[in-house]
Amino acid sequence: MSVGTSRPLKTRDARRPPAPRHGDLAELGLCPDDLPDGLVIADEHGRVVCFNAAAARITALPAERALGSALEHALPLEDLEGRRWWQLTDPYRGLAIRVGQPERNLLLPGGREVLVSARYVRDEPTGPVRRVIVCLRDTEARRRTERSHAELIATVAHELRSPLTSVKGFTATLLAKWERFTDDQKKLMLETVDADANRVTRLIAELLDISRIDSGRLEVRRQPVDIGAAVGRHIQAYVASGQSADRFLLRIGHPLPELWADPDKIDQVLSNLLENAVRHGEGTVTIDIEPSASPREREEAATSVTVSDEGPGIPEESMNRVFTRFWRGSKRGGTGLGLYIVKGIVEAHGGTITVGRAPGGGAQFRFTLPVGTPAHLL
Ligand SMILES: Nc1ncnc2c1ncn2[C@@H]1O[C@H](COP(=O)(O)OP(=O)(O)OP(=O)(O)O)[C@@H](O)[C@H]1O
Ligand SMILES: [Mg+2]
Repeated sequence: MSVGTSRPLKTRDARRPPAPRHGDLAELGLCPDDLPDGLVIADEHGRVVCFNAAAARITALPAERALGSALEHALPLEDLEGRRWWQLTDPYRGLAIRVGQPERNLLLPGGREVLVSARYVRDEPTGPVRRVIVCLRDTEARRRTERSHAELIATVAHELRSPLTSVKGFTATLLAKWERFTDDQKKLMLETVDADANRVTRLIAELLDISRIDSGRLEVRRQPVDIGAAVGRHIQAYVASGQSADRFLLRIGHPLPELWADPDKIDQVLSNLLENAVRHGEGTVTIDIEPSASPREREEAATSVTVSDEGPGIPEESMNRVFTRFWRGSKRGGTGLGLYIVKGIVEAHGGTITVGRAPGGGAQFRFTLPVGTPAHLL
């Protein structure tokens, strides 16, 4: 007998009393192919009687070839030491009190990792095994996140090491040979140390933001925000630090809806976008603030801010990567975290951000924030 891959699940024998509390999968009209995980069932002789679509995908073995074959042939699993798992566990002749195997990381031929758990179905508690039910779960997605964590740690370590190496080098030199340097030389070294220490502090602040964004803990404390005035303050700061006032053009469309947002976080977004436009772009930086349609349904009003420059812009093929962590296009780049954080903050406000080409040929970043409802009015 064989339970085909598309027929409803029937693993219980008619002699056994039904389990009404859990519902019957067949009664629910469910078939093995509907299950998200791989399901393999072997009968009392160890022959495969069910091999669902997910099992076929994970093992890369078509169900037709698996059905009817011995369990150890359909699923030639090995543990991480290379031992054959079915021989090791021996479900049919092993200890009669065994009820199954807990989840374990095993290998398929070709070294593909898979998470496996098994259940042994017996008619009586210590009777012979009538069915072996095996669940398979792909570990690819889990591995990918693990890999991305490992890469993040490697990158962070690297980013921290270079400024700290410079801090260590200059302080050690100054301590060892203080008398041999002129005041100007000492000042230059201390300025470098100061700048590198700032870089480390900034990187750590950015990493903390990232961890909040990634874990969904970024808090948005909404207050009325005058975004035009906020942009104006940033421009003034640039002018005060020596940039020419002609470099900036601020245009505000009217009437702007009243915007409720987190002022500090919006400042962070503006500061990153303007800094990028000044550092990576060229020519005039134009900031357009306009009323627009909300990216969220049921909320009609929103404000959009567009920052455009006249520099080289972002190459078309890299546009979908600018918002990822640690991506930087040019040598002039910083750590490549700025836009990732900007996107995280905008999205935490329920907004959206896009990148494109400015009319003048440079980069154009546009974010749209729904007007937002203050927390106390919700
Ligand atoms: N206005 C722009 N014009 C041209 N390239 C840009 C512009 N804005 C960003 N980029 C490119 O996108 C990359 C990523 O920007 P992002 O702000 O995320 O990082 P960063 O500026 O390099 O470093 P950080 O902001 O963390 O100090 C930059 O390295 C740069 O190559
Ligand atoms: Mg930046």
